[in-house]
Amino acid sequence: MRDWEQCYRDGNTPWDKGGSAPPLAELCERHGIALWGGGPVLVPGCGMGHDVREIAAMGLDVVGVDLAPTAVAVAAGMPAAGSERYEAGDFLDPQWRQGRTFSAIWEHTCFCAIDPALRQRYAEAAAGLLGEGGIFAGVFYLDPHKPGESQEGPPFGVTADELDELFRPWFDRVDGWVPTTAYPGREGREWLAVFKRRAG
Ligand SMILES: C[S@@+](CC[C@H](N)C(=O)[O-])C[C@H]1O[C@@H](n2cnc3c(N)ncnc32)[C@H](O)[C@@H]1O
Repeated sequence: MRDWEQCYRDGNTPWDKGGSAPPLAELCERHGIALWGGGPVLVPGCGMGHDVREIAAMGLDVVGVDLAPTAVAVAAGMPAAGSERYEAGDFLDPQWRQGRTFSAIWEHTCFCAIDPALRQRYAEAAAGLLGEGGIFAGVFYLDPHKPGESQEGPPFGVTADELDELFRPWFDRVDGWVPTTAYPGREGREWLAVFKRRAG
C-alpha cells in the first residue's frame, strides 16, 4: 500500500486541493449544524486538515487524525479556525480508539485510501467511536478513475449499496445523494451519505 508519510515528505499530494471538500458545505447547508450533535467531531485521514478547520469554524471541537506525522505537523501549523487539534495515529487501531467517543465523524478520502480488505475494520472503528444517535457522514468515490487512466487504487471506489451493506450492522442510513458541488473533475462521481448509529 501507499506510504502516505513519504508522499507528504515528497510533496506528492495530488489529492490535496488546498481547501475543504465542497460536499462538506453542501451537507451542512442541507442538514444544519445540529447534524454534528454538538461535538467533538472526528475527521479520520484528515491530511493537512482543511475539513477539520471548516468544521471547527462552525464552533465545534474537532479532532483530526492521520497516519502521516508530516501531514499532522502541517495541519497543526495552520492558523486555528476554532477549537481543533490534530493527532498522528491510526484510525483503524483499537488502541488509538480506546476511551474515545465522538458525536460525529466526517469522512473524506480516508475510506477510499485504505485497502478494501480493511473496510470491515473501518466500519467497526466508526461504530466503536460513536454512541447511539452518533452521525457518520462522508463523501465517497463512486468512480475514482476516468476512462483511459490507470484503474489501480488508491483511491478505491465503492457503490452506495456496498456502503449500506457495510454499515448496516450498526447504522441506519438517513440520507444519501450525489452532491451537486465537487472539486473540479469529481462532479457526479461522488456519493454523500449520512448514517446514524443505532444502540448496541
Ligand atoms: C488521499 S489522502 C486524503 C487526505 C485528506 N482527507 C484530504 O482530502 O486532503 C488519505 C489520507 O488518509 C490517511 N490515512 C490512511 N489510512 C489511515 C488510517 N488508517 N488512519 C488515519 N489516517 C489514515 C493518509 O495518511 C492520508 O493523509
